[in-house]
Amino acid sequence: SSTKLWGGRFSGKTDPLMQKYNESLSYDRRMYAQDIRGSQAYAKATCKAGILTPEERDAIIEGLEKVREEWATGTFVIKPETDEDIHTANERRLGDHIGTHISGKLHTGRSRNDQVATDMRLWLRDELDNIEKYLIEFLKVTAVAASDQIDALMPGYTHVQRAQPIRWSHWVMSHAFMFLSDLERLRELKKRVNKSPLGCGALAGNPFNLDREFLAKELGFDGCIQNSLIGVADRDFVVETLQWATLMMNHMSRWSEDLILYSTAEFGFVTLADAYSTGSSLMPQKKNSDSLELLRGKSGRVFGQMAGFLYTIKGLPSSYNKDLQEDKEPLFDCVTTVQNSLQIASGVVATWSIHPNKMKAALTMDMLATDLADYLVRKGVPFRETHHISGSCVQAAEKQGLSGIDQLGLEALKKIDNRFEADVLEVFDFERSVELRSSIGGTCRASVVKQIEELNKFLQLG
Ligand code: ARG
Repeated sequence: SSTKLWGGRFSGKTDPLMQKYNESLSYDRRMYAQDIRGSQAYAKATCKAGILTPEERDAIIEGLEKVREEWATGTFVIKPETDEDIHTANERRLGDHIGTHISGKLHTGRSRNDQVATDMRLWLRDELDNIEKYLIEFLKVTAVAASDQIDALMPGYTHVQRAQPIRWSHWVMSHAFMFLSDLERLRELKKRVNKSPLGCGALAGNPFNLDREFLAKELGFDGCIQNSLIGVADRDFVVETLQWATLMMNHMSRWSEDLILYSTAEFGFVTLADAYSTGSSLMPQKKNSDSLELLRGKSGRVFGQMAGFLYTIKGLPSSYNKDLQEDKEPLFDCVTTVQNSLQIASGVVATWSIHPNKMKAALTMDMLATDLADYLVRKGVPFRETHHISGSCVQAAEKQGLSGIDQLGLEALKKIDNRFEADVLEVFDFERSVELRSSIGGTCRASVVKQIEELNKFLQLG
């Protein structure tokens, strides 16, 4: 029979390419510590169930400590013939240390099916904690950036056409709120990741009266998955993470797109630090916003991983199928991408330079056309009518080649509509326009201060 863990019923050798095709150790070794932790807890539970003596249990726990040490110090020697994944590798090595007459008892009632699902959840739980930490950090530097430049005014855009003046800090906070929703969603998703499949066995459950609640507690899970078939088959926690990441990276991409535009010479609102820019190999003058372009680009990568894995599991038969091994590479890559992206984004915000003068220079009087219409609204004229009147003012200024509607003068305005009075000239003031937007969520100073407070309050509660 073959030397493989499962080799009893085999007499033929594995095809060499099949061997490579099948192995997952090259990437699932990333979960070596979780695999060992799960096995140590499992040894305790099987001892409780009377399968292992306390001496055997302790030998297993200590032997696994040695294996952990080997991975940690890079001295673990892989045997490709038997070590097809992290589970078989750890068990084989445990046998080298303590003898297979003891190590051979560890897997009683367990399958790699409940084992791998457990490892994945343990691993992901910790990584989601890291992601949460980086996301909070990003939100914090964003809130600081908004406070620092609370009074800078800039054009607000729709269709990338100048629309109405807003505060730069208002723009900053608009994105912060998208990421704040991501934080809420992340906390929601973590609850579903942190459930224990251990003790589900291959598919049908454990026959040794194993205390699954004890196991779940040992491993810090919030309870057990209640059906063994789904315990080994469920990868919704992977899908949900990928979907969460897709939406978060989508926000990152839209944020980056704005900043890429704002950092062009044509806009000039913001300059990225050298630390987050790169140059051109040909054009000596170039400074490109590569950090932002990569953030935008990597949103596609994460979306692809999500779509690819959903496609993998669509139509899978019940319980475990080897297709599920395809969950790891997209998840691992996605987690790394997201963690790096959040840290890069924080770095961009913490080091950017803002140019309020450039923002101010980009403001044009036509952006106060709505305010001009609103002026007449305040005198009792229906908005549909005032919209038209203000539009005529814009047209008149344009026809006369004036730089803006403020240049028409009171007489000309009165000619267009005799309800314009001397106080109309107060309308041509960007600061006034911004401060009038004082309802909840508006761009006036007090509102932006409130937004920052709300964000900080949420972060404190978390
Ligand atoms: N390496 C496998 C995976 O990642 C472990 C589970 C293997 N189970 C099995 N019955 N072949 O899914």
